[in-house]
Amino acid sequence: MEKKDLDWGNLSFSYQPTDASFVAHWKDGEWDEGEITPDHTITLSECAGIFHYCQEVFEGLKAYTTKEGDIVCFRPDLNADRMYTSAERLEMPPFPKDRFIDAVKQVVAANAAWVPPYGSGATLYVRPFMIGSGEVIGVAPAPEYQFRILVTPVGPYFKGGCKPVKLCVAQYDRAAPHGTGNIKAGLNYAMSLRPTMEAHRNGFDENMYLDSQSREYVEETGGANILFVDKEGNLVVPQSHTDSILPSITRRSLVVVAQDLGMNVIERPVKFSEVQNGDFVECGLCGTAAVISPVGEIHNGDEVITFPEGHDEMGPVMTKLRETLTGIQEGEVEDKHGWVFKV
Ligand code: PLP
Ligand code: COI
Repeated sequence: MEKKDLDWGNLSFSYQPTDASFVAHWKDGEWDEGEITPDHTITLSECAGIFHYCQEVFEGLKAYTTKEGDIVCFRPDLNADRMYTSAERLEMPPFPKDRFIDAVKQVVAANAAWVPPYGSGATLYVRPFMIGSGEVIGVAPAPEYQFRILVTPVGPYFKGGCKPVKLCVAQYDRAAPHGTGNIKAGLNYAMSLRPTMEAHRNGFDENMYLDSQSREYVEETGGANILFVDKEGNLVVPQSHTDSILPSITRRSLVVVAQDLGMNVIERPVKFSEVQNGDFVECGLCGTAAVISPVGEIHNGDEVITFPEGHDEMGPVMTKLRETLTGIQEGEVEDKHGWVFKV
């Protein structure tokens, strides 16, 4: 099959329509069969639930071409699980998990020509999402829903690929304690746009959010979880007392990858004061879009915190984790845990 004629090595993280999307509808208590469609538009009533009470949840995963030329995606079962939980939290009818995985495979297969070639550095970003499409005027769950999956080829999320990024400590909160920070819902991103744009205007790549209850603990950034390496070489993974961190699939995979590589992993609440004290030698962001991006500096007002082993280029631990994870995804490293799903 012939690939599209794109400049694969120079793609940015942006949308372009491909050959097909997947769409299914929920009405009268059930999901229809769903289908692959060339139509990338949605026509809805002005009174659809999505427009008024923001009933929307989404996912993000990637499809890759492996060394052998297979098209695969990475742990779509965990995206199916997380979207199920997200939908339940917003009183939306969850899309059945086995059908989610099947729909991902169908839509990726229908867009095989858009899956970037092996070694190009680009991937096919897969974005499942669900909206309240039925009409609602009082505050209530919508009576009808649409589940869709769009795909689009993408390059690196942060400009400069693996160049260390600069974070600033946000003066805003991302997630309320016991709120919706642990689900993937558009509402969490709407209110992050102001802090994100302010961070960009001030020369930063992203915000680092602290827990909103005490503002003492590190949570995550607007679109990725945070990882640290301490002076003893342990991988330290921030946990939340209030369940406000999105359970990143990349992070959960990296914990296993690190253990497989013989590293000690410590998952615990991390105080921002530890970061300020210079207790960590490396810091990185992880997520589907971000993969692993090294953090070079964190600014907190006038204070500048640096990481000695990741300031100018990605440090050794983040480099090893990144190489191993992308190696598994692209079929260069053995997939011991059955994470790679063939399309
Ligand atoms: N945290 C937030 C707020 C995100 O939006 C994402 C992106 O999905 C992540 C973390 C990383 O999660 P994952 O590794 O599952 O993509
Ligand atoms: C992802 O990593 O898949 C996300 O959804 C993050 C988003 C901010 C692009």
